[in-house]
Amino acid sequence: MTASRKPIVGGNWKMNTNTESGTALARAVADVFPDIAGADHAVEAFVCPPFPFLAQVGEVLQAAGGGIALAAQDIYHEPSGAFTGEVSAAMLKDVGCTAVLLGHSERRHVIGESDELINKKTHAALEAGLTAVLCIGETLDQREAGKTDAVNKHQLTKGLEGVSTDQMADVVIAYEPVWAIGTGKTASAEDAQAAHAAIREVLANLYDQKTADATRIQYGGSCKPSNAAELFAQPDIDGGLIGGAALKAGDFLDILRAAAASGA
Ligand code: PGA
Repeated sequence: MTASRKPIVGGNWKMNTNTESGTALARAVADVFPDIAGADHAVEAFVCPPFPFLAQVGEVLQAAGGGIALAAQDIYHEPSGAFTGEVSAAMLKDVGCTAVLLGHSERRHVIGESDELINKKTHAALEAGLTAVLCIGETLDQREAGKTDAVNKHQLTKGLEGVSTDQMADVVIAYEPVWAIGTGKTASAEDAQAAHAAIREVLANLYDQKTADATRIQYGGSCKPSNAAELFAQPDIDGGLIGGAALKAGDFLDILRAAAASGA
């Protein structure tokens, strides 16, 4: 973490929780978050509940003071119409979302989303005024073949195609090596830092150094209280996107504490 960028931590609840457990989790985190962020708002936070619970979780977050942003796990790029099962940017805004994940590895590798579709979704999110959290990362095969940086460059270049320098102020990158997601295997702090530095270099080439230096790059993949501080201490790691550990209020709060301390 570098002092000029504010750390940002997101909780990706994936296809977990229900009305009762989701609102309870949100309440437990939101009640403590202001003490962690402090008067100088040392860390930004968002949570991504499943679509059916967005509105109720949003109410809980608002009631607690609104310090934690409400985010969605996905979006569809068309504004409305015959797209059964899909959810538009306007709908997400209507229920209080201010951010959305794009191209999460499970969307890419389980559901089969292409770079082109993810790019369309990124534009839809940004045009609606949502923060776009663009997720990228290599598979184990790609890492073992030495293709980590090439994969990240490709996914960044395609995902951000047509996104302006001004719009980059509303983009967060989440680097999540696929082999580390939900597996308990975390990238070493050194490997993660190397990937993040390479990602920042791609951003500098696509845009300019100032934009690259201002863009937050989260790490995701088995991030937990025991490894968060070391990861967030790396100069190019600006917080995390948290899956499993975000389902336990105590763990997520500890990760938020580590992020708040990393920016100090
Ligand atoms: P994990 O998931 O923390 O459970 O590995 C991270 C993510 O997929 O965002």
